[in-house]
Amino acid sequence: MLKTMEKKDEDYELLKKLIQQKLGFNCEQYKDSHFKRRIDVRLRATNSKTYKEYVNLLQNNRNEYPELMETLTVNVTNFFRNAEVYDIIEKEVLPALIKAKNSGLRTIRIWSAGCSIGVEAYSIAMLLHHLLGNDFNKYNIKITGTDIDKESLLKAQKGIYSEIEMKDVRPAFLNKYFTKQGKDYVISDELKKIAQFKKQDLITGPKMSGFDAIFCRNVTIYFQKELQEVLYMDFYNALSKDGFFIMGKTETLLGPSKDTFKPYNSKERIYQK
Ligand SMILES: C[S@@+](CC[C@H](N)C(=O)[O-])C[C@H]1O[C@@H](n2cnc3c(N)ncnc32)[C@H](O)[C@@H]1O
Repeated sequence: MLKTMEKKDEDYELLKKLIQQKLGFNCEQYKDSHFKRRIDVRLRATNSKTYKEYVNLLQNNRNEYPELMETLTVNVTNFFRNAEVYDIIEKEVLPALIKAKNSGLRTIRIWSAGCSIGVEAYSIAMLLHHLLGNDFNKYNIKITGTDIDKESLLKAQKGIYSEIEMKDVRPAFLNKYFTKQGKDYVISDELKKIAQFKKQDLITGPKMSGFDAIFCRNVTIYFQKELQEVLYMDFYNALSKDGFFIMGKTETLLGPSKDTFKPYNSKERIYQK
């Protein structure tokens, strides 16, 4: 029995090593239970009965790697995800930033951490453009989206979305900020200009700084608790004075960050430096 267990763990460890090497994916960031659940999705999809069978399949079928990456990163997202949060962002958070930056260089820097296909970054861009109206060009706005998933980042850079992804975009924004290309919707150049997307791992990547707001929503929920604690303090340090930190509805501050951030709207998980 022990022998089988040891063997099983060996195969599991080998699989983790392959994932790290071939996908550059840091398996240790996730809670083990979550990680195994994600892997099991691919085991079932490929009819693999054991980790060993799945390792063989991975080594012989290159097409499986992108499928596995997609399953591991869970990059489900949509424009204006959780309307209630965006309501506060539109009515309070962005107006506060605009007011605070209403002179001098008028620089606004926002980070969408774990940006997936870019819809969070573009949702913020739409709101800023809408709120600023004719003053939009007077501001120097940069929204940075980072993620570990190359495919998602490519899509974000292209800014082309399908009908189903547009469901929560209000009609006025649909007309103003998108053009139709066949069945798809292309984000306007004016918004694309202020957004940039890059591959960066939140755990192992460089430390960032100078942001007026950081959105990290529905990303850390599966991370190991200790990693979350460090990451939330990294976000705190990456914010400018009075900067906002917005987390996902099911995520909570842990460790030192709990006493460091000021709650701004706890229900909507909005905090301030
Ligand atoms: C569910 S999506 C969230 C997208 C968006 N923030 C939202 O709330 O709709 C989670 C994203 O986090 C990314 N991610 C997971 N681990 C990451 C890491 N260590 N560094 C950067 N991004 C990561 C995934 O690739 C995925 O695109």
